[in-house]
Amino acid sequence: MKIERFDNDEVLASTLATRLIDAIFLNPRLVLGLPTGRTPVALYRELRWHSQRGHADWSQVRTFNLDEFVGLGAGDPGSYRSYMQAALFDHVRMTPEQIGMLDGRAPNLAAECARYERAIAQAGGIDLQILGIGANGHIGFNEPGDTLEAETHVAELRAETRRANAGWFGGDTTRVPSHALSMGLATILRAREIVLMATGAGKQDAVAGLVNGQLTPRLPASFLQLHPRVTAMLDRGAAQRLA
Ligand code: F6R
Repeated sequence: MKIERFDNDEVLASTLATRLIDAIFLNPRLVLGLPTGRTPVALYRELRWHSQRGHADWSQVRTFNLDEFVGLGAGDPGSYRSYMQAALFDHVRMTPEQIGMLDGRAPNLAAECARYERAIAQAGGIDLQILGIGANGHIGFNEPGDTLEAETHVAELRAETRRANAGWFGGDTTRVPSHALSMGLATILRAREIVLMATGAGKQDAVAGLVNGQLTPRLPASFLQLHPRVTAMLDRGAAQRLA
């Protein structure tokens, strides 16, 4: 795993944004896997900045988001769909057909997960998957536990994950959905290249396990060690426990 350290999250975000703009220039049909959450907020701001200045042509790019809350859809302010519209999709030239998102309101969630796997495969697979990491070591919503799911699935969120997401729901943890749809570990590991972003001291233990820990479903991100092309982009806080 390649480790890159940055003085702060702003430099990290602008570096990654520039790389993504370059990647789209080199491959206008890039298939991108995208995260939500607090960590990539600055990344999306940088991408909007570049796109508003014509630095990137998104008209052939495909995107697939990692996850979505069960029960929430496009109209719900807490949905990841709403987050992505505001953070990126409303600001770049993309048609709905280019945007892959799980539908948390689908009547048959298992069928929705299967549809998503097919859609990713039909797009030719994910070229570059961007990830955040939970303080508990989750990626996507693959939560720590006795077992992990390989493919896109319905995940039950752990209490700490619901607390960490309360900010998107007026600070009220009880309003955070109990379940989400998420890409599985194999879905993520099939990406040709993976970049994981981690910022803040709260992520230092998860990052230590990601980089140096044993492979364990107790820290799902540790399985990224199996992938040949992973870069962990870290700020000082997140890198604290690395030598
Ligand atoms: C979100 C996702 C999650 C987050 C993780 C970190 O799409 O897949 O794994 O990346 O929970 O969230 P933040 O960035 O809010 O600390």
